[in-house]
Amino acid sequence: MDKVSSIFDLENLARERLPQVIFDYIHGGAEQQITLQRNLDDLRALALRQHDLRDVSNPQLSVTMVGETARIPLAIGPTGLAGLTWANGECEAACAAADFGVPYCLSTMSTSSIEDVAAASPKPFWFQLYLMKERKVNESLIRRAHEAGCSALVLTLDLHVQGKRWADAKNGLSVPPRLTLHNSLDMATHPRWLVSMLKSKRRTFGNLQGEVPHAGDVAALSEWIEQQFDPRFDLDTVKWVRQRWDRKLILKGIMHEDDARQAIDIGADAIIVSNHGGRQLDGAPSSIAVLPAIADAVGARLEVLFDGGIRTGADIIKAIGRGAHACLSGRACLYGLAANGREGVRCALDLFEQELTDCMALTGITSLRTIAPGTVTAQPRL
Ligand SMILES: Cc1cc2nc3c(=O)[nH]c(=O)nc-3n(C[C@H](O)[C@H](O)[C@H](O)COP(=O)(O)O)c2cc1C
Repeated sequence: MDKVSSIFDLENLARERLPQVIFDYIHGGAEQQITLQRNLDDLRALALRQHDLRDVSNPQLSVTMVGETARIPLAIGPTGLAGLTWANGECEAACAAADFGVPYCLSTMSTSSIEDVAAASPKPFWFQLYLMKERKVNESLIRRAHEAGCSALVLTLDLHVQGKRWADAKNGLSVPPRLTLHNSLDMATHPRWLVSMLKSKRRTFGNLQGEVPHAGDVAALSEWIEQQFDPRFDLDTVKWVRQRWDRKLILKGIMHEDDARQAIDIGADAIIVSNHGGRQLDGAPSSIAVLPAIADAVGARLEVLFDGGIRTGADIIKAIGRGAHACLSGRACLYGLAANGREGVRCALDLFEQELTDCMALTGITSLRTIAPGTVTAQPRL
């Protein structure tokens, strides 16, 4: 894409193309957005030590993520309602990920359904599960993901209640949604987005249609969802899922060493150190701040994945240097999708790859598996 030099350009294009209500939804975090900001600031505050006298002509960027080869150490993470940014957005993003060669994770709260994405994507994808109080819905979603050939189930742990995003409430993206004069005008004045939405197969929660009575009524459906997040979610709940899913199981939302150790006991294949991109507990530390202790606590017993604040290739190296095996991207790829659909996601992935290559060359890293301790440090004192 011309004139795009960084993820921040994609963010600006997304801001221009989307109505404010949708941009605020993808961009924002919970409450005062303290944790959202910490994710960004703490990654940026880390320093990369440069090592010059090395041959860096043959960098190895690819890794395996839960047994699958990934061209760069990055998967596209689950983001609900991504299809409100681009027609059939999840199908487009999954195809971009498959063409490029990284895993794609579909959210329970996607607009495209599991079956839509399975039909569109040439490769298996991961499915992210939010556990509902109604267990038969969970059983059905797990079965559908299995039948669609999903290679991994990503169970999100940090949604006992939904974090409050103040901008969404003001914008009418609430339960039930409010169509105000302001957001109607906002949508009407973004005709490219509006036309794209009219062309989209779905505009609401595609996975839940057929699972829930009155699923066609957006207000009723969003009320049902709000009541379904389960405050009783605990270790037994995770065991319940493990018993029903025989492929790779990834636990997302680990921010504490104790939870990470329990993930090993339960037989998870990987964990994602994540604070939901600052959209749940506002005031939580950045995910990069807790990563080293969690990685130390689990050692090589399971794969430690990371998300929160990844906007450049250097951010990926910093996370790997602090103990992650690989990363996931939420907003960065979503900005790409919102800016230009499949091509925009491809652009985000190309940027990450180029930046990773450059950063490895300049730091003297030839393999992401052998980043020497001390390469990623706090900024040295002057
Ligand atoms: C718009 C949006 C929707 C999200 N929806 C989900 C979701 O449905 N399930 C989930 O587990 N995480 C969800 N997340 C969290 C992401 O998977 C990821 O943890 C987070 O975005 C990582 O931070 P980053 O955006 O700074 O990369 C969402 C994030 C955003 C920005």
